[in-house]
Amino acid sequence: MRLAPQIDGERLLRRLDAFARIGATPAGGVNRQAFSVEDRGARRLLAELALERGFTVFQDGIANLFIRREGADAALPPLLIGSHLDSQPTGGRFDGALGTLSAFEVLETLEDARAETRMPIEVVAWANEEGSRFAPGVMGSMAFTGADTAAWKSIVGSDGASLAKELDATIAALPEAALRPIGMPISGYIELHIEQGPSLEKEGLPIGVVTAVQGTRWLEVSIEGTAGHAGTTGLAYRRDPMVAAIAAIHRLQTTIMPLDSSARLTVGRIAAQPGSINAIPQSVTFTVDLRHPRPERLDAIEAEARQACTAEAEAQGCMATIKRSFDMPGAAFSADMIKIVEDAVRSLGLSHKQMISGAFHDALFIARVAPAAMIFVPCRDGLSHNEAEYVEPADAITGTRVLLQAAIAAASSLELLR
Ligand code: GLV
Ligand code: MN
Ligand code: MN
Repeated sequence: MRLAPQIDGERLLRRLDAFARIGATPAGGVNRQAFSVEDRGARRLLAELALERGFTVFQDGIANLFIRREGADAALPPLLIGSHLDSQPTGGRFDGALGTLSAFEVLETLEDARAETRMPIEVVAWANEEGSRFAPGVMGSMAFTGADTAAWKSIVGSDGASLAKELDATIAALPEAALRPIGMPISGYIELHIEQGPSLEKEGLPIGVVTAVQGTRWLEVSIEGTAGHAGTTGLAYRRDPMVAAIAAIHRLQTTIMPLDSSARLTVGRIAAQPGSINAIPQSVTFTVDLRHPRPERLDAIEAEARQACTAEAEAQGCMATIKRSFDMPGAAFSADMIKIVEDAVRSLGLSHKQMISGAFHDALFIARVAPAAMIFVPCRDGLSHNEAEYVEPADAITGTRVLLQAAIAAASSLELLR
C-alpha cells in the first residue's frame, strides 16, 4: 500500500541548521548578503543536495536558482515553491531560508514517497530578495516577471562592490546549474515565510494565510550644506546638513506613524560626508523606507516626507535632493490559490487567520504573472531582520506540512483554474 507523503521534520531542522552555518554571525544570526561568497555557498549547498537526489538544477541570468522535479505532464508549466537564501547583514536564520528549505523538503518528500504530481514542481531560491547590499530588493522575482534590468548593471553595493561583477561571479560559481533564460511560464507560486511580526504568536495561531502584501517605497535623501571647521565656525556661519537631517527625521518620526497606525516609516541608513569628527559635514545622506496598505496613503506619506526634508534643509540654508529608488505597489493574491492554501490548512486540522503581509516578498511580483499565495508561521516576539530571529521547530514543521498539502493540490488543479 502506498502511504501519503509525510514530511521529514528532523531532516528539515537539520537542513535549517546546516544553512544557518553559512555566513553565521557570533550573535547567532547570518550575514549572507546577496551575491556574496556566503550567498554562493548556500546556493552551492542547495544545488549539491538537489543533484544528489537526482533533481535537475537550473539558474538564470540574475542568479535565480531552480530545482526541478518532473511531473506526469512535462508539457505543463511548473508549480513554483520557494523563497530566498540571501539575508540582511545582521539577519536571522529563517527569513527566506525557511521558505526555500521547506520547499526543498516538499520535493524530497514527494521523491521519498515516489509520489507523482501532474505538473512539474520547481523549488526556487530567488536572487537578492533583501536589497540590503544591492538595492533594490526582490531583484530576482522582478527580473523573472519582466522588469527592465538594464539600469542594474551600474549598481554599486553598500560595500562598494559592483553588482555586475558579483552577479557574474555568483553564476560562474555554480557551473552545475544549467543556464536558462530569465522568465518562463509557470502555473502558480506558493511561498512559506515567517511572519516577521508578532500577531500569530500573540494570538496563538500556527498559520497565517496571506491574502495581500502592502506597498513599499524607498527614498534616498541627500542634504547638501557647507563643510567647515568644527572649532572656528560659529552658529551664524553654519550650513550644517546634519542639523537639517536630524530635524527632518525627527519631524517624520513624530508625525507619520503616530497619526496613522497602518503607516510604517524607517530610516535605516545615514551617513555624513566626509565623516570627520572635527568637520561640519558637506552632506548627509539617509534612506527612508515607507509602507502602507493603501496606495493613496503611500502617495500622501511620500509627499509629506519630501516636504519635511526640503523644508528642514532650507531652514539650515542647505539643499535636499530626494530620489525615489524603489516603488513596489502592494498586491492582492489569487483567490484560487488562497483557497488551495486554506483547504490545506483545514485538511490538517489547523487553526489560522487571513492576514496582510507588512514585509514585501518575491510572491508580490510573481502574483503578477501567475496565481500566488503565501503561508506565514509565527516567529518569537515578532523579531526579524535581527540575529535573534527564532522559529519554534514545531511551527517550521507545521508550515512545511501545509506547504506540502497545498503544493500537491495546486500541482494537480491549477491548470483547471486558468
Ligand atoms: C523584506 O525584506 C522587507 O524589507 O520587507
Ligand atoms: Mn524574506
Ligand atoms: Mn528579509
